[in-house]
Amino acid sequence: MHYDPCQRTFDCEPTLTDSEVLEFCREGHLLLKGVVPDEINQRACAWIDGDIPANPSYIPDGLTEADLDRIRFTHEPTSIFLEDWFIEHVLLNPQLAGALRSLLGPNIGLPVLASHHRAECPMEAQRWHQDADHIYGPEVRFLEVFYFPQDTPVELGPTELVPGSHIQPGGPRDEEGGVFCDGPAGTIGIHHQSIMHRRGKSTAEGLRRMLKYNYWRTAPPQRDWIVEEDFDFQSAYYGGHGTARFYAHMFYWLCGKGDQFRIIGGQAWPWQTENQIGPSYGFDAEEGYQPNWRRDNPDGYAR
Ligand SMILES: [Fe+2]
Repeated sequence: MHYDPCQRTFDCEPTLTDSEVLEFCREGHLLLKGVVPDEINQRACAWIDGDIPANPSYIPDGLTEADLDRIRFTHEPTSIFLEDWFIEHVLLNPQLAGALRSLLGPNIGLPVLASHHRAECPMEAQRWHQDADHIYGPEVRFLEVFYFPQDTPVELGPTELVPGSHIQPGGPRDEEGGVFCDGPAGTIGIHHQSIMHRRGKSTAEGLRRMLKYNYWRTAPPQRDWIVEEDFDFQSAYYGGHGTARFYAHMFYWLCGKGDQFRIIGGQAWPWQTENQIGPSYGFDAEEGYQPNWRRDNPDGYAR
């Protein structure tokens, strides 16, 4: 792990393989259960609740200690990012860092803003939504991360999300369920910022704390995660009708080949079924279309 406190960036070895990076493109989320040590989780809860004094490792330019104190008790308690123990064990958590390094390249920019999603449980579920200012596109220039510092079983209303929903508008009805990101204290989730999600319904008594923040890409994408010798771009599973083209484009963008990505439509690559007797046509096409991320024509293809 290389951490540069002046630039507020880090670098480390990637931990995801080709298949896992493609899976992230398809699913739009990844959950790391209980990866932060208990002592740190307890300290995070105490810090958030105002039960221990702040001990910022430095005062950022343009801010004063009074500013940091004010910030600490807002719904955006970003001054927690200045605590050494939080930087080392949460922001730079080894499992998280390796996954982010695989998806965001080298020298990843650390978050500059935290939001605290506090809920006094029990509480009804939120409405399904995509967060403000989300964007649809093949680019993965930043990722959203959330951290649960206390045990967050389904009963305490963890984040609930719809896998694969980060490529287009529309989601389930409010009475329909998704996948819960539940886990023990120290669970960290990574998701594409455009994914459809909500705070799940909680039935237990207690305080749900959750911090959410973004990590930022600083380098152009390339296939520098763990390469699988036998990974086959032609036969890999990219998704179904109407979606495979978007997940595949995202994967190609991450490989540094987003511009060259072309599809010819219909049953052609990247779509396929297990009942074919040969590979899909259209793989490696030099001419054809790109997926229409803007959704401003009826067939979903763009020049
Ligand atoms: Fe949200």
